[in-house]
Amino acid sequence: MKIIINNLKKIYGKKCALDSVNLQIEDGMFGLLGANGAGKTTLMRILATVLQKTSGEVIMDGIPIENVTEIRKFIGYLPQEFSFYPNFTVYEILDYFSELSEVKKENLRELLDTVNLLDVQKMKVRTLSGGMKRRLGIAVALINNPKLLFVDEPTVGLDPEERMKFRNLLTKYADNRTIVLSTHIISDIEEICSNLAVMKKGKVLYSGSAKSFRSKTDGKVWELDMSEEQFKDIQNDFEKRVTIVSRITNENRIKLRVISDELPAVEAILVEPRIEDSYIRIMNGF
Ligand SMILES: Nc1ncnc2c1ncn2[C@@H]1O[C@H](COP(=O)(O)OP(=O)(O)OP(=O)(O)O)[C@@H](O)[C@H]1O
Ligand SMILES: [Mg+2]
Repeated sequence: MKIIINNLKKIYGKKCALDSVNLQIEDGMFGLLGANGAGKTTLMRILATVLQKTSGEVIMDGIPIENVTEIRKFIGYLPQEFSFYPNFTVYEILDYFSELSEVKKENLRELLDTVNLLDVQKMKVRTLSGGMKRRLGIAVALINNPKLLFVDEPTVGLDPEERMKFRNLLTKYADNRTIVLSTHIISDIEEICSNLAVMKKGKVLYSGSAKSFRSKTDGKVWELDMSEEQFKDIQNDFEKRVTIVSRITNENRIKLRVISDELPAVEAILVEPRIEDSYIRIMNGF
């Protein structure tokens, strides 16, 4: 399963939400990273055939996106925002959607099991936790066993345990399929996506493997540990010279993680870069 996107544009009125996007997406988990307003949802909605592009070309598995009926046979979509009838039970929701997509009832149990909702199938939607609701959303998106799945910001608002469960669920599903996942939670991508794209203001700043993205900051990420007094002395100068990724204060000590082309201070220790470091670097335009 391959998605080819050439010169894709979306203009809402005067607002250009996607500006000549070029991307190639292959099997496995593909992460779409970008700040608020970058164009992730716009791109997802076009790929999911619920929004029309302004211009450009999208081809999925050899089929042009204009061929909506064919495309919809093999895609699933979990929107960023969705709601289900609050008084329906988990089972009733799936039953309802299975009627719409002509899915056999026998498969619903297996689907409930896949998303870990078998035990709560009699609970009403309005009584579900955020994580359960997301998993129900995924179950609905998976109902026709799509080989291509789009999930838009699926882990927002989930606690760490639910996030982990959700990521495991997606990873399992991605085994012989393609999943495109948008997020601004970088650790989601770090752990599960082998390829990714970074968007900013409708443009793609990077696309390729997560590994080569991470290595963009090889030899440039440093950690320093100092007292608060020491930090106060160097703070001004430091903020001019380096990019501070994180700053953790613990009992009068400050642990800094910074990006700098050169050794930022004699006591700095060079560390392995993470996706987040490269993301901050690319967002700062260097
Ligand atoms: N229906 C619309 N009409 C006008 N402008 C829109 C519309 N939908 C989105 N936009 C604009 O297009 C740009 C991209 O929005 P989009 O929702 O695709 O971004 P996003 O990356 O998904 O952001 P977020 O991280 O906040 O979900 C934004 O500037 C947004 O204001
Ligand atoms: Mg969005």
